[in-house]
Amino acid sequence: MSRTVVLVYSGGLDTTVCIPLLREEYGFEHVVTVTVDVGQPREDIADAAERAKILGTEHYTVDARAEFAADYCVPAVKANADYQGYPLSTAIARPLIAQKAVEIAQTLPRVDAFAHGCTGKGNDQFRIEFMLRTLMPGVPIIAPMRERNMTRSEEIEYARARGVPIHQSSEKIWSIDENLWGRSIEGGRLEDPSYAPPEEIFRWTRSPQEAHHAPQVIEIAFENGAPVAVDGQRMEPLALIQYLNELAGEHGVGRIDMMEDRMLGLKVRENYECPAAVTLITAHRALEALVCARDELRFKAQADRAWAELAYAGLWLDPFKESLEAFINKVQERVSGKVWLRLYKGSATVIGRESRWALYDAAAASFDDKSFDQSEMSGAVKAHGMPARLYYQLKRQNA
Ligand code: ARG
Repeated sequence: MSRTVVLVYSGGLDTTVCIPLLREEYGFEHVVTVTVDVGQPREDIADAAERAKILGTEHYTVDARAEFAADYCVPAVKANADYQGYPLSTAIARPLIAQKAVEIAQTLPRVDAFAHGCTGKGNDQFRIEFMLRTLMPGVPIIAPMRERNMTRSEEIEYARARGVPIHQSSEKIWSIDENLWGRSIEGGRLEDPSYAPPEEIFRWTRSPQEAHHAPQVIEIAFENGAPVAVDGQRMEPLALIQYLNELAGEHGVGRIDMMEDRMLGLKVRENYECPAAVTLITAHRALEALVCARDELRFKAQADRAWAELAYAGLWLDPFKESLEAFINKVQERVSGKVWLRLYKGSATVIGRESRWALYDAAAASFDDKSFDQSEMSGAVKAHGMPARLYYQLKRQNA
């Protein structure tokens, strides 16, 4: 039986070049390609299938969009997903992509290795390999791009010499990764942190100048921390995220330009467009602020941060993540209600919130209410700052 490799295949230049490499340099007679649809542009999915066909691989396209939305994006909302200002769009898709490749591998009569197109500089090698190794231990993993240290122009030359189908424009200047949760743009002139992102890199969001001139108020309903409806329209997570990407994108919401610390410690300049992610997380935070106790919010911020670090590292199956989610999900039991946001020229501003679990007493907070006897406060105020007062006394004595 011929030696078989399962390639995690995006259809881009790197992974396409992997196909002849795996045959010629690694000696696999049988290459199986798996393209996982997590909301990339439709052309990319079609292109991948087309190229796989031309190159004669056994090809699978797996539509994982609904699962990605429900089991990856929704938990990201509950954890207010944020790594240094990045809503983790690329990061959270990688474990699912690897998992789907494993699911295909498990149906095959024989698998001698996995392969992926990650280079040795990025985060994805960690995320994808961790998942493959955890779910199917013992199967070797090959990363031809990393092992051969090929430059982009060497890849193009190699592809051309073998008639491997690549777009002339695959010498394109930007490196782009796209899924339901966001679009990442890096490389080219953007590698200079002082270079302002040109308008042409954006596809999902309008510039503030081009965005609607009238603000739009939207209502997002949450149940147990999960977004369930927009403007009273109940939607499944996939449809809801797609809808908000369009709507908030038209208002220019979700552009992010940042410096990011990669896992290796390398700093990179990143641009993101995440209209739905930014809108949903902004609304979700507003609802948590209404229903959570002060100490709970403070601790939740720590849990969220730890969650984001694990998600960034692709450690989706880590026991720490499970434990954090036990806490996060317990809190979400009360995160039900509605949030109103105003979308306007690049911003999503919370303008109202409501919940049956609001830890808020209008009467107690009001200036016009007598139910709370203010005179009872005198003693509590006196005790406030006791150590600091003692300290100041000592400073005076020892001066
Ligand atoms: N730096 C981000 C991450 O590691 C996104 C990388 C996206 N890749 C790209 N080719 N633009 O999650």
